[in-house]
Order: sequence, then C-alpha cells, then structure tokens
Amino acid sequence: MKGIVLSGGSGTRLYPMTRAANKQLLPVYNKPMVYYPLTTLMLAGCREILLVVNPADVESYRRLFGDGKQWGLDIRYAVQPRPGGIAEVFIVGREFVGKDRVGLILGDNLFYGDSLPAVAERGATGSGAVVYAYWVSDPAAYGVVEFDAAGRPVSIVEKPKEPKSNWAVTGLYFYDADVCDVAAHIPRSARGELEISDVNAHYLKQGRLTVEKLGRGYAWLDTGTPSSLLRAAQFVETVEDRQGLQIGSPEEVAWRKGYIDDGGMEKLIQPIRESEYGKYLQRLLARA
Ligand code: G1P
Repeated sequence: MKGIVLSGGSGTRLYPMTRAANKQLLPVYNKPMVYYPLTTLMLAGCREILLVVNPADVESYRRLFGDGKQWGLDIRYAVQPRPGGIAEVFIVGREFVGKDRVGLILGDNLFYGDSLPAVAERGATGSGAVVYAYWVSDPAAYGVVEFDAAGRPVSIVEKPKEPKSNWAVTGLYFYDADVCDVAAHIPRSARGELEISDVNAHYLKQGRLTVEKLGRGYAWLDTGTPSSLLRAAQFVETVEDRQGLQIGSPEEVAWRKGYIDDGGMEKLIQPIRESEYGKYLQRLLARA
C-alpha cells in the first residue's frame, strides 16, 4: 500500500514560528507534528511513502526520515514548487502512485482513537474514494459534506459560507489510481488551488465516494493556529502521561507491526538512550 504525506504549505497562520521552520516540523508536545499523520498512514498499512514538501525543506525531512528503512518503510520525496492546493500532490506524485491505490494524509492532521487502525485499513482496502467526516463546531473552515436522510453523501463543498452540516471532511483520504487523472482535469479554484474537495466531489458524482463518519469517540485535531497547536500538544501530553503510552511514535508502530524486530529497535534506541523518548522505547522492549 502506498501513502502520501503532504508536508508543504507556508503556515502563515503560525507566523513567526514558521518563518524559518516548516510548519509540520514544529513540535506537538514531544514529537515533530508530521510524526502523527505518518504513523496514521503506517497503521493503515502504508509502507511505501512519498513526502511532498517545499523545495527549501527537503534536506530537513531527509534528516528526519532518511529512506525510511530504519522503520521498515520506503520513504521518498517530491517537491511542490509552490503551495497550489492539496490535489496537486497527485500531479507531482503521479509516477509514485502508478497503478496502485493510495492514501493521502495532511502533515498537520492529528487523529486519535482506539479503532483508528481498523477504520484506516478499511479505507486502504476499499474501492473508489474513501474519506472521513468529523463533527466540528466550525465547519465553514473545512470541506463540508452533506448527507441525505439515508446517510448517503449528497454534496461536498470547500469552506462554504453557509455550511449544510457540521460534518467536516478530514485530511485523510484513500483513492484508486484514477485520482491522478481526476486531479489533472479539475480546474483551479477561486483561490488558485487544486482543491481536494473538487476531487472528492468528482468521485461523488460518479457514485464512487464512500464517506465514513468518525464518531465522537475519536479526536481529530487541528494545529493551524497558535492556540490549536497548544491544545493539540496538551491533548497528547494528557493522554501519554496518563497511560504511559505514546501517540504517534513511528518506531513503536514499526515494531508492533513487525516491520522491525527487537534487534532493529535496539539499534534505533542506542543513539538516543538518554532521552525520554529513548527510555520510552526501552520500556516497550523490556515489557515485551
Ligand atoms: C484542507 C482541505 C479541507 C479539509 C482540511 C482538513 O483545508 O481543503 O477540505 O477539510 O484541509 O484539515 P486547508 O488546510 O486548505 O484549510
């Protein structure tokens, strides 16, 4: 299974934090933000991963992830020359996608919930397009999906002035390989972007879109403003401290999924033994 993490953008709402650092490299409590969506894709079963990043950030991401082998992944990089919309990843990532089904996650989206792996796996193994809807208090800030009385999706609109529902489309999507052609043919929106909502609306029109609702037992957190970034960090800290288990650790997911064995984990721990993170990974191994 292939997956794409979109980790570009200018992060203007987080300025000046994003003046010299890419938004998705900022910390959410104890890890870089991008670790959370990356592990969500891993939990969905994606092992071949393309990171789409800004030209200036390729080297930072390479330092962070390398070729992914340390986690049993195959990580590659592509550059989005300018922020031109989410759907552009399927233009720059066309070769990577090839004839395969692909997952896409936004590098600033943090998902949490007990059944998340199963839910994401359903998207990964489904057909057509599979997207997720989450009830929010401020739907106008998102792509919004409207359902009919039978619970079927009837419309998807990007940042509507008058939202037809409170169901926001989250930043986790799964598509068949047709998505590259779909993205290549949609027109740019008024804000000059290739909108992912237009791609989803296209699949909807063809009757090939599944919208799965993530109920209130899930957390889908935003990290787009200073306060929402802080709240996301506090959420992670609260849960991790209570349980003594971490959210969004690629080492842990790789090890639990059997992508790396105990020896592989030991090697990863060695250089970071003294850090809290290293100690956490040691505890996992010791308890196994
Ligand atoms: C983007 C999408 C929107 C989606 C949101 C999820 O919004 O365009 O449909 O609901 O991500 O995070 P943007 O980040 O461009 O505001």
